[in-house]
Amino acid sequence: MRIVDIITKKVNGKALSPAEINFFIQGYTEGTIPDYQASALLMAIFFQDMNEDERAHLTMAMVNSGETIDLSAIEGIKVDKHSTGGVGDTTTLVLAPLVAALDIPVAKMSGRGLGHTGGTLDKLEAATGFHLEISKEEFIHLVNQNKVAVIGQSGNLTPADKKLYALRDVTGTVNSIPLIASSIMSKKIAAGSDAIVLDVKTGAGAFMKSLEDSIELAEAMVKIGHNVGRHTMAVISDMSQPLGYAIGNALEMKEAIDTLKGEGPEDLMELSLVLGSQMVMLAKKATSLEEARKKLIEVIKNGKALEKFKLFLASQGGDPSIVDNTDNLPQAKYKIEVPALKSGFVRKIVADEIGVAAMLLGAGRATKDDKVDLAVGLMLRKKVGDEVKQGESLVTIYANREDVSSVIQKIQDNYEIGEFVAAPKLIYQTIT
Ligand code: URA
Ligand code: CA
Repeated sequence: MRIVDIITKKVNGKALSPAEINFFIQGYTEGTIPDYQASALLMAIFFQDMNEDERAHLTMAMVNSGETIDLSAIEGIKVDKHSTGGVGDTTTLVLAPLVAALDIPVAKMSGRGLGHTGGTLDKLEAATGFHLEISKEEFIHLVNQNKVAVIGQSGNLTPADKKLYALRDVTGTVNSIPLIASSIMSKKIAAGSDAIVLDVKTGAGAFMKSLEDSIELAEAMVKIGHNVGRHTMAVISDMSQPLGYAIGNALEMKEAIDTLKGEGPEDLMELSLVLGSQMVMLAKKATSLEEARKKLIEVIKNGKALEKFKLFLASQGGDPSIVDNTDNLPQAKYKIEVPALKSGFVRKIVADEIGVAAMLLGAGRATKDDKVDLAVGLMLRKKVGDEVKQGESLVTIYANREDVSSVIQKIQDNYEIGEFVAAPKLIYQTIT
């Protein structure tokens, strides 16, 4: 087999066979296929697309390029959740203890990642001492015992995806549905859960800005899941404005704790219940979404979800006192209000630019060696549809430096104030 023939075939719009896809993935992972030929094939896929079978084969070829996690020693149906990007998305912190409180095993892998705020790990580290350097045996033991644990990303999970994603990043081939869908699904499948709930974001702060593209991506991922034998479903949710109020690691930790107490922002609570209900259904712990939702609300009301969160943090070295006393979280030195420049209604909050504002404070990483400041970030005081008077605060900045004029400017530039508009829809569609 020659890679040039495979490139030519795809350039001409033909479907690749499983053997051809395997040849490409294996050769590229091992280094026998050079970057320039891999780039050419990616560009051909970008323009010619892949059919359903090719997408499933590409996903499995990437899964098989490295290690996979075997969770079979954990009792019960393991359900994973994945959100595609977003700004201030605190759902993982809420959902892990919430679902585990219903005895559904949550076996999560997490990394630091890049972005506006840290990854789930950074947020968890706001509970001083929390760590995920645990052995696989300890991980499995903890999930069996507590129903929830998080382990660091294995170094050799889907190496083909790591290499290809880096290449796509510099060859203009990131934004391709078959390539994004297979990239995300390969990592989820290698991580070993039996069932997957996908939270596909749509809007300015999302990977996919238009609803049509978001639906297409969600459908592509759900089909891949089904074709490789994993129960998979997707929810399309709004990310035109940030979710909840908090953007920043310790701030999001506090927001997650509030939500587990039933006192969180309405949109974060609702999305957590929607995604959580789907997880409960896939875990076969309820026979209808209504029943699943009721059970989730019950463990919030009776405090079991909160107790689970404490147990989870303490089991991995984290300070559980933050749950009862959020003042024990890392605190920023300065709190600065961002005044509205005029009166009216908030029409738009450009989510990705607000995320950049949080990053300017040090809440996130631009490169993987950057250090994150856990205490800093933003608390939104106004969201789309809210009335605001000139001079009233739009956002509170939590900073560890005094001069935040560039951050204030960025926030004011990205809050559109004018005639009334209703708050955007939170959940657009469910795809099964
Ligand atoms: N996230 C991924 O993991 N892969 C993509 O291709 C895009 C977003
Ligand atoms: Ca949030």
